[in-house]
Amino acid sequence: MALTGFFLVSFLMFHLTMNLFLFEGSRGSFSSFADFLGTFPIVRPIEWILFGGFLLHLLLGGFVWLMNRGVRPQAYKVKGTSKTIKLSSRLSIYTGTLILAFLVWHLIQFFIASRFAGHPVDMFVLVAQAFSNPVTIVLYEILFVILGFHLNHGFQALFQSLGLRTAKYRGFIDAVGVIVWLLIPLGFASIPLVMYFGGAR
Ligand code: HEM
Repeated sequence: MALTGFFLVSFLMFHLTMNLFLFEGSRGSFSSFADFLGTFPIVRPIEWILFGGFLLHLLLGGFVWLMNRGVRPQAYKVKGTSKTIKLSSRLSIYTGTLILAFLVWHLIQFFIASRFAGHPVDMFVLVAQAFSNPVTIVLYEILFVILGFHLNHGFQALFQSLGLRTAKYRGFIDAVGVIVWLLIPLGFASIPLVMYFGGAR
């Protein structure tokens, strides 16, 4: 889980960097880069590796969740929230499922809509059209909050699993973690808002 999670966070950083070119001034760069990703043959196997990474991560996540439940087949009589396990950890199976649902919608909206259109598509126009709808923007913004929760748990779990979150490094790891779980979702969250209010619609 830790390694596939690390791989997916790397993708998110790349994806965010690419999407920051959606801001009006760099519109041409964004569309050319999207064209390159859509047409350059070497990108295809990389996409399959990416989709494989997502699949492995969610299969392992489901497996770990089922195993944890299997540890105690009977539910506790007193249902209390554990103070030792963070809320984001307890919710990770649910936040993960919501991110999966978002991904299906997101891929239909952009990836499938551009790759299977049968004619060249200006990716900037496609994204601007999607973010001209306030309902889409609200749903995306909700997703970015959920993504932040998921990454908050994931980042700490990553270093815990690798045995690196020792007392000595904990403070440093948690500080770097803020970049991942707060700044990545915030970066994504800014895009629909800037496009909508900045007049790209
Ligand atoms: C404002 C936020 C976002 C925007 C504007 C955006 C935009 C796009 C666009 C335009 C594509 C098609 C790229 C192409 O086919 O060349 C795409 C693909 C994709 N997006 Fe996003 N995305 C956003 C957030 C996210 C998030 C949060 C995730 C993951 C949780 C994600 C996962 C993916 C994946 C897996 C693909 C397919 C692989 C690829 O083509 O790069 N996206 N996105």
